Amino acid sequence: MANRIAAGEVVERPASVVKELIENSLDAGATEIAVSIEKSGTMLIRVTDNGEGMGPEDLALAVERHATSKLTNEGDLFHVVTLGFRGEALPSIGSVARMEITSRPPLSDVGYRIRVEGGKKDPPFMVGSSVGTNVEIKEIFFNTPARRKFLKSPATELSHICDAVNRMALAYPGVHFRLSHDGRNIADYPSVSARIDRLHQVLGREIARALASFSSAGGQLEISGYLSSAPASFPNSRYLMTFVNRRFVHDKVVSHAVLHGYETLLMKGQYPAAIVFLEISSTEVDVNVHPAKHEVRFRRPSDVHDAVAEAIRQALKQEAKGLSSPALAMESAEFAGVMEKPLPYLTPALQPDKPFLKPEVFPMTGVREGSTREGFFSSLDILGQILGCYLVCVSARGLALIDQHAAHERVAFERLRQQLNAGAVQKQNLLIPQAIELTAGELMLLEQKLPILGRFGFLLEPFGPNSYAITSVPALLPEGDYRQIVRQMVAELAELENSEKLRQHLEERLATIACHSVIRANRLLEMTEMRALLQDLDQIEFATQCPHGRPVVIEFSRDQLDRMFKRVV
Ligand SMILES: Nc1ncnc2c1ncn2[C@@H]1O[C@H](COP(=O)(O)OP(=O)(O)OP(=O)(O)O)[C@@H](O)[C@H]1O
Ligand SMILES: [Mg+2]
Repeated sequence: MANRIAAGEVVERPASVVKELIENSLDAGATEIAVSIEKSGTMLIRVTDNGEGMGPEDLALAVERHATSKLTNEGDLFHVVTLGFRGEALPSIGSVARMEITSRPPLSDVGYRIRVEGGKKDPPFMVGSSVGTNVEIKEIFFNTPARRKFLKSPATELSHICDAVNRMALAYPGVHFRLSHDGRNIADYPSVSARIDRLHQVLGREIARALASFSSAGGQLEISGYLSSAPASFPNSRYLMTFVNRRFVHDKVVSHAVLHGYETLLMKGQYPAAIVFLEISSTEVDVNVHPAKHEVRFRRPSDVHDAVAEAIRQALKQEAKGLSSPALAMESAEFAGVMEKPLPYLTPALQPDKPFLKPEVFPMTGVREGSTREGFFSSLDILGQILGCYLVCVSARGLALIDQHAAHERVAFERLRQQLNAGAVQKQNLLIPQAIELTAGELMLLEQKLPILGRFGFLLEPFGPNSYAITSVPALLPEGDYRQIVRQMVAELAELENSEKLRQHLEERLATIACHSVIRANRLLEMTEMRALLQDLDQIEFATQCPHGRPVVIEFSRDQLDRMFKRVV
């Protein structure tokens, strides 16, 4: 019973088993770890390593509760240098699955095998085996149907497994990792000496190349890692990974510090890609705070927070300096895709000299909800375009300012919505397909989401081991690099597991496409283009707000202008 309760905490899903077994292999000093999975881990999880192995006595002990070889006295608990220390993983797994462990230490001629089924153990018996340990977990949750019901779709469970392997692989570049699913090889990361090489293996060249390395050391704490320099447009924290003493953890202190370090470079709700490794003296951190060891507690959290935030800030500053000309900075912003964000390195520099440009000034003086009438936009008299992004117009009541970017986005969004409601978004075939490289986990998600991507106008075909070729995109998108948006769509679609609220979610995803389809900010428009834009606005509903809720038009009536100039009493 106690084992099953512990299993509830330790074994949430097949990926937790994979994580625990790999940790054991790493603790055993393995340099090669092979993970084989069948049916997303629900049928079989097999982890084979070439580590120090176990003799028959240790093998029998390993599956006993609270038996660990990793602590010798109570004091060790405060200097944990191994990934495991609770002596709980194997007995917990053994209580909710059929487990078989075969192991042979290097100096022994024979191996031993032990079986545990739903907590019932048989004594170890002698078998021929190679050096190292092989753990097989079959039919996880066979005796706890309630748990089984909580499992998500096979693709989702598999992507969790991929994530677990990838995280370990990032922290241990010197170890050769392999992962296969239903006989198909999905990841193979041969041992490398430099961490950046492992990043390339795991995240793919495309993302890894966009990351800049950083490091800083002082006192008890060493911080190093890789950052996306231009603010990345990831809608979730999938690529924000934090490791403490090579243990992957979800740590609020560290992730908050990372986001804090980015400061204004990130829009609310947006996350960067940041892989952060902390090396901290084992006396400064308590790892025994979470049964699945997902969290740690720092002795001095605020020191850690400040050090991490400062390291990130410095690294980004350094990066920004590297971008010598403004044109370059703009280009990188364009690359990040979503133009909603402030231009990364220009805005802070511009603001101090020109405080009157602060956008808050406008809404205060008068956004008029529902101020648009029949043909309102076409009736405007265009005076011109200012600052490369606003149209200045004379309206019947006074002055109207239009954000060209927000306007375009709204028009594109409404068109896409009509197309989607009529079946699918209109596509354009690409003359030259674009290859997109994905991590093993993303690949699983992408394959699951192909039909829905198709409805959005994206067609993709398998193209080599970790790649897909984009063969068609929504017709509304301008020519360019479509890999970023596809990646973003996959990440966003991964969030919706069930069909509840699907419609609303789909519309939100349209906003992403709309955003990519619009005229870049700071582009001069021809008079005819401005006219066409205004006419388009008259054709659609909800023209006063962009899909993200920013206003499209701000109108100043004569009254308001008079008040601003203190003409009225
Ligand atoms: N792959 C392996 N190679 C060699 N020894 C192993 C291996 N896996 C487990 N062991 C031995 O079995 C013991 C029990 O493993 P188990 O994972 O249950 O506990 P732990 O790793 O000590 O602590 P935790 O519960 O925190 O993981 C380990 O302490 C280790 O001595
Ligand atoms: Mg363990």
